[in-house]
Amino acid sequence: MQRLLTFCLVVCSCTAQVLLPYPLDTPGDGIPPEVYRGRRAQLLSAHTERSVILLLSADVRNRQNDVDYEYRQNSNLLYVTGCTEPRCALLLVPGGIRWHDSIVNEVFFIPPRDPEREVWSGVQMGPDEAERILQIRPTLAYASLPAVLDSVLAGKDTLYIASGLPTPSVLLPIWGTRIDVERLLRDSLQKRYPNLVVRTSLRTLAAMRQHKDTHEVRLLRRAIEITLDAFEATMRAARPGMNEYELEALMEYHFRRAGAEDVGYPSIVGSGYNSCILHYQKNRRTTQVGDLVLADCGAEYHGYTADITRTFPISGRFTPEQRALYLLVLEAQDSAIAAAQVGAPFRATHRAAESVIARGLMELGIISSPAEVRRYFMHGTSHYLGLDVHDAGTYGPLSDGTVITVEPGIYIPPGSPCPERWWNIGIRIEDDILVTERGPINLSARLARHPDAIEVLMQSR
Ligand code: GLY
Ligand code: MN
Ligand code: MN
Repeated sequence: MQRLLTFCLVVCSCTAQVLLPYPLDTPGDGIPPEVYRGRRAQLLSAHTERSVILLLSADVRNRQNDVDYEYRQNSNLLYVTGCTEPRCALLLVPGGIRWHDSIVNEVFFIPPRDPEREVWSGVQMGPDEAERILQIRPTLAYASLPAVLDSVLAGKDTLYIASGLPTPSVLLPIWGTRIDVERLLRDSLQKRYPNLVVRTSLRTLAAMRQHKDTHEVRLLRRAIEITLDAFEATMRAARPGMNEYELEALMEYHFRRAGAEDVGYPSIVGSGYNSCILHYQKNRRTTQVGDLVLADCGAEYHGYTADITRTFPISGRFTPEQRALYLLVLEAQDSAIAAAQVGAPFRATHRAAESVIARGLMELGIISSPAEVRRYFMHGTSHYLGLDVHDAGTYGPLSDGTVITVEPGIYIPPGSPCPERWWNIGIRIEDDILVTERGPINLSARLARHPDAIEVLMQSR
């Protein structure tokens, strides 16, 4: 029935060969086109004249039949163009190519506007709109990309390609054979251009993205502010008997209401034993009196995501065991944040957090040697944060303008080899830290973190 209706409407729409007169409704991120141009110039200048760089948009992922998943641009392409549309590509040519009477170093590709498609999906960016809004000239029809590549790659030695594939490999059912799509793409390029070296790693781009400029810090701050407000509202409303998904719904309601377009990753809301599962996302359990709730959530605002975790007692008061472990994670986090200094090795935060937790768990009699700490604190302490929740970066020494998370935790699932009173306690505290020459700045500091402050917040209902 749905398919027939679709077919009818497609047939009818064929007669309406006019472009929609609506404005192109792309909410700006406030980053001027010259900032994107500067990023492209930086990328160009880091590559030799005999190389070419190709950045592809993320593919459109199909959910079922004619329904696709909501589209999210590939972060590398977004970073250098600001373009949020699917089916586009950017070609950067450090050696330059002739375009009419001038030499250009960049060409953007996007399909022309399509009246039939616009009936279904609204106004989309075509080459004219891309030139006007993104200010990338020339912008050509996407279909011309293979021919342009053929001519541009003659005489070059290296093609760098950022594939834009969100799932670089897929599992073929029945036999369980893994198909490496990214490799297939690289191999077919290699076959077509046998004299070229084809590289998929863009280390320069990772190094650029790990440093946040003022525009990025502004957008990150906004994503974080939205997330902090949502946490406060959710923690105030939390009551025993609520389902985890109700807490998730409240959190995401406040994200969307404040203008966030999406979540940066699926919200994690785990209560009781679910608090011990690091990336628990089902969120279906009903909370019970005495439970701890671990909520790890982040709003995405104009492509930038927050990544915040708070752990709170659903009944409004920590038990003595919960409080003892919470204070230990808090001390570990304070010590790790203090270690987030310019020039420190990337692992400095983890080393600081791990030694505090190892010592504390030994003092509480939960472990008997420091090496056992990994049983209850089994993940890293920091990752880069930006356009992606686990953002691009080089994992070298920390530098000014880098944003990282600091997120130590302790997770003691039922059946663990320690007294039962510690079971079902999972605690993570996660904040977003801007590393600067003047020391670390906690961008999420205003959200209650100390157990006393959390109890006060939860009682201010
Ligand atoms: N929210 C995922 C993480 O903290 O890494
Ligand atoms: Mn994180
Ligand atoms: Mn997180």
